[in-house]
Amino acid sequence: MKLKYTAPLRGEVEVPGDKSISHRSIMFGALAQGRTEVSHFLTGADCLSTIACFRKMGIEIKQNSSDVTVFGKGLDGLSEPAGILDAGNSGTTVRLMSGILAGQRFSSVITGDASICRRPMKRVMLPLSEMGASIVSQQGNDCAPLEIRPSQLRGIHYQSPVASAQVKSCVLLAGLYADGKTSVTEPVVSRNHSELMLRYFGADVSCEGTTAGILPRPKLTGQKVNVPGDISSAAYFIAAALLVSGSEILLKNVGINPTRDGMLRVCQAMGGDITLLNEDHSGAEPCADLLVRSSSLHGTVIEGAIIPTLIDELPVLAVLAAFADGTTIIRDAAELKVKESDRIAVMTDNLTRIGCDVQATDDGMIIRGGKPLHGAVIDSHKDHRVAMSFAVAALACAGEMEIRDSDCVTISYPWFYNDLQTLCR
Ligand code: S3P
Repeated sequence: MKLKYTAPLRGEVEVPGDKSISHRSIMFGALAQGRTEVSHFLTGADCLSTIACFRKMGIEIKQNSSDVTVFGKGLDGLSEPAGILDAGNSGTTVRLMSGILAGQRFSSVITGDASICRRPMKRVMLPLSEMGASIVSQQGNDCAPLEIRPSQLRGIHYQSPVASAQVKSCVLLAGLYADGKTSVTEPVVSRNHSELMLRYFGADVSCEGTTAGILPRPKLTGQKVNVPGDISSAAYFIAAALLVSGSEILLKNVGINPTRDGMLRVCQAMGGDITLLNEDHSGAEPCADLLVRSSSLHGTVIEGAIIPTLIDELPVLAVLAAFADGTTIIRDAAELKVKESDRIAVMTDNLTRIGCDVQATDDGMIIRGGKPLHGAVIDSHKDHRVAMSFAVAALACAGEMEIRDSDCVTISYPWFYNDLQTLCR
């Protein structure tokens, strides 16, 4: 796809439902008794993979656009899948489902696409094995396909070496089937959607500092889940409106969970004009409308405990930093290397192509921003967040940007280019 937009961004958009929350609504809905009605569900490819996996285990799921009904059968209601479970491109599906599958009375195999089969699964195999699960990597490379056989699980306390909501959630979900309490401590707190939603469905979940715990065998009951807009999708429009002078946009109903809102805090620290309107803290997941106006930006340091709260936004923050005056340092973000692509290598390479002075480090990037940048041919590596980040860069670059495999945005935001165009008109 070739992109070149020039007009300021104007108007309002409601971004699609949050990806992390959409996945969990299907998984927890399937394990609950009775109906779970989900509205504003994200119909991106990743969440559709989760739906397909649960249908394969006998769960009836009705989907009408972004309205989804899950007919849950309780903790022991899943049935043995006829074939291999396919998570597609979705790390959340493989890692969270591994925890659920470890507690079942049947064997299963879960895998995904080429990218998934390169991503590290030892991080979930290790704690699950400690709980007594039988889980092996079929190729012996600590990656999917993962083969999981029935076993009785023990409650453990797991000290996770990484701040990862996927690891934490996997262990807590296995904990539903354990013989005692299960808890996870992380180096810093990662997104807490599992804790919030499991509690909402009736589980006994405790959260203290960087530790989350769960008691086994709760009675989970189907609920109504209204998924807030995905702040990780809103991030591209926030960045675009900040960058293109004369822009003013309103993003409606965006999730602002404090374990996810680091992007807002960093943009404001860079000089970004972002105002929260209509804040709603009445549900489990807080949300607000975001009013964003173009701003002149300066570099910053992004490090430490804020990293997990903006981990998926770092590619677009790197683009913002490329246009901001001065130097931006991103550190403590080695996790970027094991996302849908190696986002340190891929972002550094592509930012260099558009003329940016950027240096990869072991755990981040150093970006010397502020000089004029130009369009180039971008290799997205089929990573949705890389493609969307450079669509934003295209708005502020001289010349034309060509993004290879630009259709990978279907993973998290199938109509992204349409919404961007609407705002640019
Ligand atoms: C996710 C957690 C994060 C994030 C991913 C979604 C989740 O991954 O990058 O896009 O839904 O739990 P990690 O838990 O590996 O950091």
